Amino acid sequence: VSYSYAKRVQNIKSSAVRDILKVLDRQNMISFAGGLPSDELFPLDAVEAAFEKTFKGGKKSLQYGLTEGFTPLREIIVSLLAARKIETSVERILVTTGSQQAIDLFARTTVDPGDIVLTENPTYLAANQVFSSYEAKIIPVLSDDEGMDPEDLEKKIQEYKPKCIYVVPTFSNPLGRVWSLSRRKSALQIAKKYGVIIFEDDPYGELKFHLDEEYRPIASLDDGKNVLYTSTFSKTVVPALRTGWVTGPSEIIHMMAQFKQAADLHSNSLSQQALYHLLTDFDLNNHIQEIRDEYKKRMLLMDEYLRKANIEGMSYIPPKGGMFLWLKLDPSINTTELLTKAVDQGVAYVPGAPFYVTDPEQNTLRLNFSHSSPEKIKEGIRILSRVFEEALQGAQK
Ligand SMILES: Cc1ncc(COP(=O)(O)O)c(C=O)c1O
Repeated sequence: VSYSYAKRVQNIKSSAVRDILKVLDRQNMISFAGGLPSDELFPLDAVEAAFEKTFKGGKKSLQYGLTEGFTPLREIIVSLLAARKIETSVERILVTTGSQQAIDLFARTTVDPGDIVLTENPTYLAANQVFSSYEAKIIPVLSDDEGMDPEDLEKKIQEYKPKCIYVVPTFSNPLGRVWSLSRRKSALQIAKKYGVIIFEDDPYGELKFHLDEEYRPIASLDDGKNVLYTSTFSKTVVPALRTGWVTGPSEIIHMMAQFKQAADLHSNSLSQQALYHLLTDFDLNNHIQEIRDEYKKRMLLMDEYLRKANIEGMSYIPPKGGMFLWLKLDPSINTTELLTKAVDQGVAYVPGAPFYVTDPEQNTLRLNFSHSSPEKIKEGIRILSRVFEEALQGAQK
């Protein structure tokens, strides 16, 4: 049968990361590939108790809910955002099926075919997937270790007249990078000057390793008019609840809510009610601190073993939070080609190339440190180092 598709299917590619995850069911595989939180830290008892409490609410807890989300949960989100210095109100909170849906609803609401979206390069793959599926053209802005380069941002805005700027300024995926305050301020100021919306994606901001450092969300520097901000409970509670949210200018939030009606009426309301109970009865801040401590420990271990391996040509910046370490190898190494060898030896990672919008650096890769136990990190880095060494020797022959 020859099926007939919309033209836009030409723009949709399966995520390289998800494709890799599929082959990882193999037993004993050490995976630094997926962006998975540690399941050992999931607050299973608290989630169970929260669902029990939800069901105690009787049959009305099983009814359809509001598109905008469960109001008591939205109230709690407003206070969580106040702690991040973002001022908002319940009316400006739209609960979504993860941050992923917030990106999708935003793109649906704002992007026409051929519109330009500016991003970092490399950037979050699944955001690119969304923008491409709405036929946007993605143009990268130059960035360095401090974040987006303001001069290049302004130049690209003048040249391309973009619809929006998509950014992950705090512990980005895949770079694990954190923008400086001055870069955050400059990006906002430039966006304001040209009337371009910033879409700030912040799933990892809470997972910081240095409590004395503050990473102000760009939304917290704004007057509520220029930044759409999304975050999620996926990394601080559990991803299975599929609950995130977006806040920003009320007009856009209202428009996105209408598209959400069309997409799914509302996000799973059992999850939302359970989250409300969990956030009321459970010490989330304490739990987040446990996650930070454990992830920091795991990142430091990965850093230590990588340093000990002392691979020629390798470089990286130990991340200050989040879940990813971005590794650059000697330019002679192609990490996409090397992946099969690494997987054969029992370790998986994600090659860097798919995260790039243009000009992929083939010698880069993303390592996730949150999901593997300390023992697996030790063993996995030992194996990977050997694979890298062999590749280097092969390249020198
Ligand atoms: C940068 C970024 N944005 C959004 C998401 C989606 O998260 P959620 O589970 O809330 O849909 C992820 C997940 O890994 C991510 O890394």
